[in-house]
Amino acid sequence: MNARDNQRNEPINDAGLTEMANVAAASLRRRSRLRPALAIVLGSGFEHFAGRCNKVLEVPYQELAGFPESRVVGHPGILTLALCAKVPIFVLQGRSHFYEGRTLAEVTFPIRALAAFGIETVLLTNAAGGISKAMKPGTLMSVRDHINLMGANPLRGWLAETPSRFVDMTAAYDDKLVGLMTKAGKLAKVPVALGVYLAVSGPSYETPAEIAAFARLGADAVGMSTVPEVIVARQCGLRVAALSCITNAAARRGGKAISHAEVLSVGKSVQANSSLLLENFVKLHAESP
Ligand code: HPA
Repeated sequence: MNARDNQRNEPINDAGLTEMANVAAASLRRRSRLRPALAIVLGSGFEHFAGRCNKVLEVPYQELAGFPESRVVGHPGILTLALCAKVPIFVLQGRSHFYEGRTLAEVTFPIRALAAFGIETVLLTNAAGGISKAMKPGTLMSVRDHINLMGANPLRGWLAETPSRFVDMTAAYDDKLVGLMTKAGKLAKVPVALGVYLAVSGPSYETPAEIAAFARLGADAVGMSTVPEVIVARQCGLRVAALSCITNAAARRGGKAISHAEVLSVGKSVQANSSLLLENFVKLHAESP
């Protein structure tokens, strides 16, 4: 893959990406007979979930051609095949971000590889800043829709006919999965809010004026990930769900300045709840047609 492709006015090496995704998928298939239908990408605040699963196989991203190594502390970069409530799933510990200087082709490559493997559903998790009043730090928000203000799209420069670059995003977040997340929250006795996630490129946090503007646009939370993966997942025909851990009040929505340390510590404080919620989601997903 030419890592810089979609930052320049050049096409993405779409055939190369598809080929590399097939190679990574074949490599995963050779390692186990299990065929998970669900993959969960663990963002900040959700790392703990990996420890709740029975690990069958751990594959460092370095062993999977095309998987970008994480450059963020706390994102180890391991693909785990695990049993969660006896259900086989993939758990991605660590994702790469646009703000790390990666291209969106790199950031979204694991999604292409998992789609090539044959998964049906991806659940993307992240840390986010709360914009609307209901999104207090510690809230878990099931994403019902998004606004892409990253200033980039992972399909820019995609020229191949199939899969098409003109991806319908009308129902990007699967209604049934949103329903399952609500049900999982009830079973786990963990409150789950519903909201719209707005993506920026970061890495600086937003200004108060930006947050005021985003509130007017209809955003409930703001973050620096997930949206590129959702777009590619939809291009690949996957069902998508996303869950945000609100780790802080967005700029001037709370009294204080935003720090990365706060983002990490609030994520940690809700980890028991978030892990329980994910486990219930996995169970319900396996039981639902
Ligand atoms: N803004 C953007 N991304 C974030 C935030 C925020 O306030 N908190 C966690 N990720």
